[in-house]
Order: sequence, then structure tokens, then C-alpha cells
Amino acid sequence: MKVAVLGAAGGIGQALSLLLKLDLPAGTDLALYDLAPVTPGVAVDLSHIPTAVKVTGFGKEDLNKALVGADIVMIPAGMPRKPGMDRSDLFNINAGVVKTLAEAIVQQCPKALVGIITNPVNTTVAIAADVFKKAGTYDPRRLFGVTTLDVIRAETFVGELKGKNPTEVAVPVIGGHSGTTILPLLSQVAGVSFTDEEVASLTHRIQNAGTEVVEAKAGGGSATLSMGQAAARFCISLIKGLQGEAVTEYAYVEGNGEHARFFAQPITLGKNGVEALLPIGTLSAYEQKAMNDMLGTLKADITLGEEFVKNN
Ligand code: NAI
Repeated sequence: MKVAVLGAAGGIGQALSLLLKLDLPAGTDLALYDLAPVTPGVAVDLSHIPTAVKVTGFGKEDLNKALVGADIVMIPAGMPRKPGMDRSDLFNINAGVVKTLAEAIVQQCPKALVGIITNPVNTTVAIAADVFKKAGTYDPRRLFGVTTLDVIRAETFVGELKGKNPTEVAVPVIGGHSGTTILPLLSQVAGVSFTDEEVASLTHRIQNAGTEVVEAKAGGGSATLSMGQAAARFCISLIKGLQGEAVTEYAYVEGNGEHARFFAQPITLGKNGVEALLPIGTLSAYEQKAMNDMLGTLKADITLGEEFVKNN
């Protein structure tokens, strides 16, 4: 098995690569690629940790070597937010980054499972999909926007509020990955109930949790450590799926198009990536209204990505 991390020298990339060095199955090759000159050093550093995962670093010119034969590609390459920015402000830089990386995936590992972390995820996933489509290699079961961070944040905040161990709390989060398109389904959390005020304030906190980190880091970037953990969890689930275990996760995928072309929803992972699209269940009146209100934004974010590939 081979896992490639593109953007591996960044804040998320380093945290993710560390966790993968620790948690990937023995015998896995971990390929680290980044434009930053420090990348080979990050790989040497990690290679001193005694696990049976072989880490190799690839510099600027070696994208193809990093990707060749990869089974899974995780992409946290690109610019993060600074205070005052929302995720759509990243589009101008990150759209091109994702397009370039997707074009290399087409050449080197067209059957890989690809997890996109680069923001704005609502849009960058559409870019990758349409680059693959143009090349004739697109398989919607193999492309994922990684929204796991929204799920782990929701679990943490619900646990905090209700005095529960967050590892025992499960919160569905659907829709997209920015602002109001992030829709936690608090009505479906087992074993706890919320007042209307709690639903409103928790929903708002989950939707703006990224901004909480951006402001606290005061210009030093956005979530990297919690995102590293979220991405590692998702990557390990992809691996388990490839190994034949049926695992359930939430991710932003091209499903049946009922709500939008891409939509974060529960899925079962298996040997080909998405094995099954699971239903989102019954929404409360509050959640239904929130969904109706945000679908226009989500669809516009997707169109932006589609237009970018069409025009470039
Ligand atoms: P960072 O600036 O620390 O790292 C980004 C890395 O990408 C840098 O090392 C840079 O050299 C590299 N890079 C830039 N262009 C590249 C290219 N063409 N090929 C390879 N590497 C390239 O940023 P950080 O904090 O790691 O964030 C990365 C991305 O993840 C941002 O777009 C951020 O908005 C996004 N993000 C996504 C989250 C999610 O839930 N999906 C959560 C938090 C951040």
C-alpha cells in the first residue's frame, strides 16, 4: 500500500504525516511531497520513528515520483486563512494548486482514492472532479472532500456542553465545509436533548469553529493539529475500506445529486472507495430550514469550481 501526502511540509501536512507514520499498517509506503525545501528533511525526521512505515520525501520537481502507484492521495497543499478571511478568499490561489495536483494524479495514479483538504473544499473538490472527468479517469466513488474536522469538532462541543466523554458522542454533520453550509444534525445525537437556544448556539459554534482557531492563532494560520488528526482518521478509514472492512465516515462526495452535485453525507467505505451512500435521516424543522437556506451557497461554490476547470 502507498499513501502520498501533497503539501506534507505544511502545518496540516506535518501533523498528518506524523500520525500516519504512527498508525498506517506495517509495510505501507508514505510519500511526502511539498514545494517547500524542508520536505526531504521532514521525511528524514519522521523516518527516525521506529514503525514499519517507510517514509520518503520528494522535493518540488518530484511530484510524479511521489504519486506513482499511490493507492491513497491526501491533499492539504495550499494557503490557509488569516483573520478576516473566509474560505472563499483562498480560491484564487488554491484552485490552481488543486488543478495542478489533480492533473498529476491523472497521469501517475488515476485509480487512487483522493482526499481533498485544501480549502475552499466546497469548490476544490469540484475542480478535482472535473479535471479527472476531462481526462476520462473520474470515478465519483474515489474522490472525497475531507469534512471529518466538522464531525470531530461537533462531537467535542456536544461532549463539553453535556458533560459527556466526546469519544462516546456521535454527531452527523452534512452539507458542505464552510459557514452555513456546515450543517450539524443535533436532532439525531443519541442520548442527549437540546433546548432551542442550545441548538442555535451549538450550530453556530460548529459552523464557525475554524474561525475560532484562525482568530486565536492571530495571523499564524488555521487549524493544523486537529485537522491533522481528522485527516489521519479519515485516511485510516480509507485504508480499512481498501482492506475489505466496511467503515462508516462522513465526507463531501458526489452522490445522487438530491441536494447538490457534491454533498457531505454518511458513506460506507470499501475496496473501491464509496461502497454505499447512506441516508441522512429525518431533519428537524430547524435543520430543514437551515438546509434550504444554505443550498444556494453550496451550489454556487460548486459552480465556481466547475467554471474554473471549464475556463482554464
Ligand atoms: P500551510 O501553509 O501550513 O501548509 C500548506 C503547504 O502547502 C505548504 O507547506 C506549501 O509549501 C504547500 N504547497 C503550496 N502549494 C503547493 C503545491 N502546488 N504543491 C505542493 N505543496 C504546495 O497551510 P495548512 O495550515 O497546512 O493548510 C493547508 C490547507 O488546508 C489550506 O488550504 C487550509 O485552508 C486547509 N484546511 C482545511 C481544513 C478542512 O477541514 N478541510 C481545515 C483546516 C485547513
